[in-house]
Amino acid sequence: MPKVKVALIGVGNCASAFIQGIQYYSKSPTSVGLRNPILAGLSSKDMEVVAAFDIDERKVGHDVSEAIFAQPNNAPKVADVPSSGVKVSKGPLLDGVGKSTKLIVTISSAPDADAVKILKASGAEVVVNLLPSGATEASQWYAEQALAAGCAFVNATPTFLASDAAWAKRFADAKLPLVGDDLIDQVGSTALHKTLLKLLSDNGVHIDETYQLDVGGGTESVDTMDRSRDAKRHIKTETVAAALPYKAEVVAGSTDYVDFLQNKRDSYFWISGVYFCNAPMKIDLKFQTVDAPNAGSVLFDVVRAMKLALTQKLKGAVEPVCVYGFKRPPKIVPMETAEQEFAKFIA
Ligand SMILES: NC(=O)c1ccc[n+]([C@@H]2O[C@H](COP(=O)([O-])OP(=O)(O)OC[C@H]3O[C@@H](n4cnc5c(N)ncnc54)[C@H](O)[C@@H]3O)[C@@H](O)[C@H]2O)c1
Repeated sequence: MPKVKVALIGVGNCASAFIQGIQYYSKSPTSVGLRNPILAGLSSKDMEVVAAFDIDERKVGHDVSEAIFAQPNNAPKVADVPSSGVKVSKGPLLDGVGKSTKLIVTISSAPDADAVKILKASGAEVVVNLLPSGATEASQWYAEQALAAGCAFVNATPTFLASDAAWAKRFADAKLPLVGDDLIDQVGSTALHKTLLKLLSDNGVHIDETYQLDVGGGTESVDTMDRSRDAKRHIKTETVAAALPYKAEVVAGSTDYVDFLQNKRDSYFWISGVYFCNAPMKIDLKFQTVDAPNAGSVLFDVVRAMKLALTQKLKGAVEPVCVYGFKRPPKIVPMETAEQEFAKFIA
């Protein structure tokens, strides 16, 4: 298949990991770290960023290869990215910046670009929404632009789009595919938490209470604290609770920002339950990851799956991709079912 032409909305840390990842794997003889080196006949080399939008003065107007390394991005540099000729366009601000991130982001005074015109001129096929958590209005605005430009839409943010029946219908009516919401991490705390709970309950352990809390140093952690902690907590708690076949006290969701962690994330897990003859068991665990690369492999899979969806002329929310790649798909299914549905879709 020809290359997948991608437009990125928000040139933050995830965008940096995505673009660096394309370079890293295109030049590397290894595919270590990739879940699917080839998917639908496409490799990392077959994805190309053809348009990008942001509102930060340090990114707008710059080649996307430079913008990904501009402040306040702090995803680690793992690859040299050659100049692409794709300049970051200015999008409308709307609710893109919260009251705490206003102190971190420098808003560009450039005029807003005509997003539909840019998407069409660039030949973009898949629009990937990487706006901050809580940018609901802006996420909806870019979904409208994707509809108007005839592009597929990937919603990596927690804004409800694919899981909102009205939005799914709008994409179905426009004969375009849509996936979301809230991308799953490759080695994420949610998947680890669910796996631990399932393993324990399959073995007859009765979980009484469990929580999972995060501390991160990226801009996204500030946004989550400021604007979307409740929504994120709701999404994560709901999906984690679904891993247990009975009701228990479950809390899962981001908590705090510590600047010196940079793009790292510390995740804490607490699980308490009883097993044979009411014997108690407790798990108290810390898990450390780097945030942005954690989105890379899943984004690679989802973008290539969307190319497949486009060639198959699928429309509306593409459920096998939603359940595989997102924390809040239109319908939550067990992890094994999600894997099977995605494998079947790709095959
Ligand atoms: N592992 C992960 O990092 C991960 C996993 C799951 C979901 N996500 C989601 O992905 C999204 C992006 O995460 P991130 O860490 O890259 O965030 P980030 O804060 O680093 O990047 C967001 C970018 O959007 C830009 N922006 C803000 N308002 C805008 C507007 N109106 N128009 C265009 N650009 C605008 C910002 O300037 C910034 O460059 C978040 O919603 C996050 O919840 C990330």
